[in-house]
Amino acid sequence: MPTIADLPRMPDVDLLGSFGLATSERLAFQRALASQTAPLVRGRILHLPVYFPCTPEAAHEVLVAKAKSFEKSPGLRVLLHDLAGEGLFTSEGALWRSQRRLLSPLFQPAPMHRYADTMRAVAARAADEMTPGARIDVSHVTTRIAMSVVGKALFDADTFDEADALGAALTTCLQWVNEHLADPQLVAHVLALDATASLATRTEGRLRDLLLSAHARFSSPFLLPGVRDAKLREAVRVLDERITAMIDERRRQGLTRDDLLTRLLTARDPDGSGEPMSDRQVRNEAVTLFVAGHETTATALAWSFYLLARNPALLARARAEADAFGDGPITAWEPERLAFCTRVFREAMRLYPPIMMFPRRTLEPVEIAGTTLPARALVFVSAYTQHYRAEAYPDPDRFDPDRWLPEREAARHRMAYLPFSAGPRVCIGLHFAMMEGPIVLATLLRRWQFEIDPHTTIREDNFATLRPRGGVPAIVRAR
Ligand code: HEM
Repeated sequence: MPTIADLPRMPDVDLLGSFGLATSERLAFQRALASQTAPLVRGRILHLPVYFPCTPEAAHEVLVAKAKSFEKSPGLRVLLHDLAGEGLFTSEGALWRSQRRLLSPLFQPAPMHRYADTMRAVAARAADEMTPGARIDVSHVTTRIAMSVVGKALFDADTFDEADALGAALTTCLQWVNEHLADPQLVAHVLALDATASLATRTEGRLRDLLLSAHARFSSPFLLPGVRDAKLREAVRVLDERITAMIDERRRQGLTRDDLLTRLLTARDPDGSGEPMSDRQVRNEAVTLFVAGHETTATALAWSFYLLARNPALLARARAEADAFGDGPITAWEPERLAFCTRVFREAMRLYPPIMMFPRRTLEPVEIAGTTLPARALVFVSAYTQHYRAEAYPDPDRFDPDRWLPEREAARHRMAYLPFSAGPRVCIGLHFAMMEGPIVLATLLRRWQFEIDPHTTIREDNFATLRPRGGVPAIVRAR
């Protein structure tokens, strides 16, 4: 059996190893993985070997078939600690399982339909506020919409007018996370986290307590540069304050509806004490859903408008679909009537997957693509890599929504498309996003034309999500 020493090695991007600091370097590296024929290759971060599954089959082993042998990367959990704590995105083990079980019913396809009206109404409100000739940034508009949709649908809160302040705070937090993803000090931090946990299992009494408290301390990024920076602390405070206000407001209104906050506030620990969730845990879950529920969708929508503007024939098809609703509202969720807008949204996420990479760490030795990886090995599954593999997507740079016609999609490996990841940690908001994207696209396209210079190429900016660098500037024109 081949060993890890036999795996093909990817050339370093810079002195730190495989992950360049610039977005362009990160993208180029993931594109290079897409042309590998080997299912698994090796790279490094500093002195640490890291592994990249390149084929859909190898990605399937990591995310689905052998998911039990992996945890989310502790480094990412440390970086997200102050923003999202142990929320659904970052938690592990029994906590993650019980929280996922609790929240899943709210995100099944059937109950999802009740959010369609909110999505249409919020998009219509944004369209109402536009005036002909106005200069806008489309990604700013889509952030406002997606943030308001999640605020209204999940928290029954109106965040439309606060979107700028909340969006700026979030950008500050995500920028800091992104800057430290490949930080040598993060590697040291995780080593300390592991060492304190492992030593604690071998000691007793006061020393054990001390090690456990050090371990808890290392779960937060307290030693990383910039973590005490006033701007970052203020950003976390702004988000905290708004989420806490939403929670307090729902408590005051009574907990009678079956919505997200009611579920969080009335849940009792199913396996043990019957205790309610702590305020801290409610806050962590709420922030997680608020952030994960809009940043990604807003980014995918902004790229959708950009790509359509560069492809007039496809834009005409999307518009025709929106126009077919006449003056009637795009309310009830009728996927067949929005089939083309859905394909546009899917194809935009293929070219620009909002979350590009899913970092994992092995919990035990595990065989991937015929090679046994040791315990604590870092493995990065890249959606971006899968989305640019030429055998799944001929001419992969071309924007072609018809790749998502059912017969063409059926011919592809399921893991060739991973914008929502896969397996047990698959995005809980998948159906929510796949309903919201086409509804918002059609609602705006029906009302306005966004004049986006077709000759300007907008580059990617990796901000934890793959945002359009500098936004998507446009002029609003009457249709
Ligand atoms: C276009 C929109 C979206 C994209 C591309 C997206 C993408 C993803 C991806 C890739 C993951 C898994 C990351 C990993 O495996 O490491 C994830 C997880 C998650 N997403 Fe989404 N997401 C979107 C919309 C949403 C929405 C609308 C919500 C909530 C309303 C949401 C909530 C979550 C949560 C809570 C998790 C963690 C799930 C868990 O680990 O159990 N996402 N998302």
